Amino acid sequence: MNNSINLFSPYQLGDLELPNRIVMAPLTRQRAGQGNVPRELNATHYAQRASAGLIIAEATQVSPQGQGYPNTPGIHSPEQVAGWKLVTDAVHQQGGRIFLQLWHVGRISHPDLQPNGELPIAPSAIKPEGQALTFAGLKPFVTPRALETTEIPVIVEQYRQAAANALAAGFDGVEIHAANGYLIDQFLRDGTNQRTDEYGGSIENRVRFLREIVEAVTSVWDSKRVGVRLSPSGTFNDMRDSNPLETFGYTAQVLSQFDLAYLHLIESADADIRHGGTAVPTDYLRERYTGTLIVCGGYTAEKGNAVLANQQADLIAFGTLFIANPDLPRRLALNAPLNQPIPESFYGGGEKGYTDYPFWSPANEPAVSL
Ligand SMILES: Cc1cc2nc3c(=O)[nH]c(=O)nc-3n(C[C@H](O)[C@H](O)[C@H](O)COP(=O)(O)O)c2cc1C
Repeated sequence: MNNSINLFSPYQLGDLELPNRIVMAPLTRQRAGQGNVPRELNATHYAQRASAGLIIAEATQVSPQGQGYPNTPGIHSPEQVAGWKLVTDAVHQQGGRIFLQLWHVGRISHPDLQPNGELPIAPSAIKPEGQALTFAGLKPFVTPRALETTEIPVIVEQYRQAAANALAAGFDGVEIHAANGYLIDQFLRDGTNQRTDEYGGSIENRVRFLREIVEAVTSVWDSKRVGVRLSPSGTFNDMRDSNPLETFGYTAQVLSQFDLAYLHLIESADADIRHGGTAVPTDYLRERYTGTLIVCGGYTAEKGNAVLANQQADLIAFGTLFIANPDLPRRLALNAPLNQPIPESFYGGGEKGYTDYPFWSPANEPAVSL
């Protein structure tokens, strides 16, 4: 127990000095402009949140095929790189640090969102339960097309190129999105990966796709500027695995070999576990991953401080609280009241619910009735 470490202790993340241990979790907000290009509106949103120790910008598709929802940003065209430069410049001007989350949704898409109306791709042709969000509203998921073995290096190369584009756009690092039932997670878990080639079967084979992506991305970036996000206990996007402790324990050990910036874990809400997930305790992964650990999922200041003091993790990521509180570190430091997140404006739209949550000031405090 080390009581001196809390959310406001600085942290040395590789060569980056974080002024506090409060991370802004990646948050899809579906507010990119024409061509899935980030714009001033997005720059304002992120610059408002620059007091985070680290911002992890929203999931961003590495290719047109990687898209699964309307108006999510990409990092595969020159216009998108220029758009993201507005964002990184604005955050840096405010003294912040920002990573980009690299994303391919795999089967969590729909022909309506795919180039030429093609089928989404996946490790295996297994249809997820549920509905895709298209431009015309919700539509049932379709059975994806299983990737040919020879197509896999093409996707790995898209991650490498996207990482190079993120570097050109002025990011401080990248996070590989291997969580929440998207493409990399679909390879990791045997509920979605029933391949018989070297990318399926044993856990060594199922982790190969992630390993190759980490190798590709760290050929562009210093490994200390690359993080990976996993959701070992999550069932979101109809995910399952026959042995999550083995799958994610082994994955954590493989990732330890790369001297990365961090491993970022989503600790699932009870709801996920009730729906058939198996809890993979963070302590179990802490024993198997030797580097910096970020945890996320339902944290309050009190819970975050306790986890840091016990050294169960090094950094705490906040999602919904950062949506509603641009100055979250200051509010937590002052124990000031928090704005409540408004779920109706999470996805899509403009300034409302995006750049108009107020900063705290004594004048904003509700009057005390005597
Ligand atoms: C609106 C919204 C968008 C999200 N988008 C992403 C995303 O792009 N990438 C990701 O890995 N997780 C995403 N998540 C999950 C969050 O990063 C985080 O893990 C989750 O909100 C739990 O943390 P919290 O309890 O502090 O909100 C999203 C969550 C919400 C509510």
